[in-house]
Amino acid sequence: MRKLRVNVFGSGLAFFGLISCVSAPLSFAADEPASAAQPAFEAAAVEQFEMASRYPVPDGYGDGFKPNFDFPQNFDAEPYPWLDADPKTDPRAYMSAVLAYILEGNVEVDWDVGNNAVRQWYHAPWLHFGERGREPIHGLTMEKTAEPQELHQLQTKEAFNWAVNFFNAPGGSMLGEVWNDRTRPNTENVNFPEGTLSAKMLFTSATPAEVPYVEGSKIWMAQINRKNTDPVEMRLLQLDFGIKDKRADSTTGWVFGTFLYQSDEPGETVYDRLIPVGLHWGNDPDRTEADFDQNKPLQEGWVNPRVAALVRNLPRKWLGLYGRMNGPVDNFNSSCLACHARAMDIGEMTDREPPFGADGSDIQAMKHYYKNRKSDEPFFEGFRSLDYSLVLSAGIEHYRAWVRHLYPDHIDHIYTDDVINPEDGHGPHLKRPELALGDIHEEYLSIFRRQ
Ligand code: HEC
Repeated sequence: MRKLRVNVFGSGLAFFGLISCVSAPLSFAADEPASAAQPAFEAAAVEQFEMASRYPVPDGYGDGFKPNFDFPQNFDAEPYPWLDADPKTDPRAYMSAVLAYILEGNVEVDWDVGNNAVRQWYHAPWLHFGERGREPIHGLTMEKTAEPQELHQLQTKEAFNWAVNFFNAPGGSMLGEVWNDRTRPNTENVNFPEGTLSAKMLFTSATPAEVPYVEGSKIWMAQINRKNTDPVEMRLLQLDFGIKDKRADSTTGWVFGTFLYQSDEPGETVYDRLIPVGLHWGNDPDRTEADFDQNKPLQEGWVNPRVAALVRNLPRKWLGLYGRMNGPVDNFNSSCLACHARAMDIGEMTDREPPFGADGSDIQAMKHYYKNRKSDEPFFEGFRSLDYSLVLSAGIEHYRAWVRHLYPDHIDHIYTDDVINPEDGHGPHLKRPELALGDIHEEYLSIFRRQ
């Protein structure tokens, strides 16, 4: 990590030249010294914070994405409808209550969620940043690409998946606490309040010819090929959610679940044709491949048998490792909660990279990965947990990369090397490759957002 910083700042001019090519709004002339070109740190940080997208809205697409960062300081607890159903014994009822709540008032405004007349929803900041950052029309960010056959046997081409996420008021209040100072986030004691719901709509570039079950789904145009390219049709494929629910306190404190669009499902609207994929509140830490082979049900989750059957004959075989709960578009060496338990603030410790999945080949790594963690238990000991929120992690990581590269005097050193010694081995991790100067844009590919 040290070496990286020395590399970067040792050759300031070449570095700034590079940055200005990869990241349009950071418009520094290549040969100008940083100090002369930089606006005041605070103003620049606020400008970045408020940015909807780094790309202009193409003609004919109205005002484009409008993020809502107007986080509430307080919120009134609602009679959350999912509390009427027990997620562990009646996952379908729980999920249908969740779906109705997510749709309420949002469908009417085509998911301009800050203008929902029933209740306000909020977006996570700093997701405009980096190679996977928000496109300008709907604020979608780039998610995991689905390899041929990952979604369907007929799929011959890669499918590009992009998503947008939003939080209800309890979740929004936590984002507001972290970002109370928009120039310097506070990531101490992040713990989302009971009743937090965050939802994520995931769209795919796959067409019905490749993935027949997306026929008739909701279409959004999105500029996924970036500046000055024609927006393309994207179809709603998956709707994810995470809920802070104290009935899950003995495992993780969260209930994660997802829906999948299915064209042959009866139902008047697109949303009626979303079927539950499954739900889980823990990782089934001890689950084995034999359990999967013998069709043993999950202890800490439920997977819809119809969806399990859909993927059983694909190369992936299961949604999550050994049949754990996960999404059809997610890394199959993983599970919803295990991947999300990696959410933490890595500060300047940029070479500590939590692995994206664990395929079972390394028993210790697998145990560490599928452990049920509480809100305050970080994936790497000594780090600050961000309580399962990967959008929060990605945003914080982007902010820190931006400060590190452009305003090194403003770096907030939240950890010391004594507390977190990368050589000390706090759990399994990958080391980031040492970045050569020419690869510096890699820094902008957040470790929380890659595949
Ligand atoms: C292998 C990693 C991985 C897996 C598995 C995964 N996610 Fe995520 N998830 C992410 C990342 C990364 C983001 C941040 C997206 C971005 O940067 O745009 C995210 C974002 C989200 C969000 C937005 C809110 C937040 O606080 O991060 C929700 C909700 C969500 N995922 C739900 C799910 C559900 C439900 C599942 C399982 C069906 C799941 N995820 C499986 C990596 C994963």
